[in-house]
Amino acid sequence: MTTTELGLPALRAGGAAPRDPARPDDPRLVDRFGRVATDLRISLTDRCNLRCTYCMPAEGLPWMPRAEQLTDAELVRLITIAVRDLGVHELRFTGGEPLLRRGLEDVITASAALTPRPDISLTTNGIGLARRAAALAAAGVNRLNVSLDTLRPERFAEITRRDRLGDVLDGMAAAREAGLSPVKINTVLLRGVNDDEAVDLLRFAVDHRYELRFIEQMPLDAQHGWERAEMVTAGEILAALRTAFTLTADGHERGAAPAERWLVDGGPAAVGVIASVTRPFCGACDRTRLTADGQVRSCLFARGETDLRALVRGGAADTEIADVWRTAMWGKLAGHGIDEPGFLQPDRPMSAIGG
Ligand code: 5AD
Ligand code: SF4
Repeated sequence: MTTTELGLPALRAGGAAPRDPARPDDPRLVDRFGRVATDLRISLTDRCNLRCTYCMPAEGLPWMPRAEQLTDAELVRLITIAVRDLGVHELRFTGGEPLLRRGLEDVITASAALTPRPDISLTTNGIGLARRAAALAAAGVNRLNVSLDTLRPERFAEITRRDRLGDVLDGMAAAREAGLSPVKINTVLLRGVNDDEAVDLLRFAVDHRYELRFIEQMPLDAQHGWERAEMVTAGEILAALRTAFTLTADGHERGAAPAERWLVDGGPAAVGVIASVTRPFCGACDRTRLTADGQVRSCLFARGETDLRALVRGGAADTEIADVWRTAMWGKLAGHGIDEPGFLQPDRPMSAIGG
């Protein structure tokens, strides 16, 4: 006899909606559109030591209170459920700035000890990376992405509101030395600010054996200042690069990878463009996201979240948490709709969701 038949409430606080009978009996994170989420993005903190103008205001944001954040033990428990029970095989740690999270190396060590061993990567702004790269590699990080929007110190200070370009460049070099390859560079071009640097950035990346990826700016800034017409498009970026390089499609299927890749001057160097807005890749999305306060998001742009922290702190069993996570992903929408008239930006900014 079920709890409902007994007249008991079927839900606990923060629990799942009743199970949709259409959801197949599949242990993985499947959705209505046939996608399977196997890549878990984990925001470890919403704090950051930079203040990129396209991300947050100069004074920063009201940071998440410490008590609301998952502890390391709570976080590792959720990661374990994802890998062991839900078929997740890739983990990416993000922020805010993930290097600001105390215990980062411990969380990575615990994640790397899981079976099957997940692929582990990190997206960082590179501040402090020079000192940490070797320890991160030893803990189990396989690859990392560093954000870098300009090679000019004054411009870096203008965009990030901090004069730290040298630290970022040192961090990238240290990551490469530590074997975290390929080190990928994430670049956002802003019209009238750094959109004249596409060629210089690619030349720098090729010379240093980094893999550059341009990301179209998305409406995820805390200030809600994004404008479609202002965004530098993938088409414009490719046109700029083609003034100096020969780009040929790399011939690989894009699959769930958001970047479209081109070989530079015949290869082996390559450049990626993530056209999230003008060429969305939602149909092949394989992501599920966890915020620092334990909320599952089925998409960067989801307008709802599912509270796993309440379950963790309320004594729920692993099986129950896993099933709530499945339900959350079953409700994933087909696409983000940025280019549609009714689009609404999510309440959480990028810095509190993770890239
Ligand atoms: N649109 C696109 N990319 C962004 N990033 C931060 N905010 C945005 C945005 N609104 C990038 C950062 C970092 C990664 C996490 O996402 O530059 O590389
Ligand atoms: Fe920090 Fe990244 Fe936001 Fe820049 S874009 S302020 S590095 S979280």
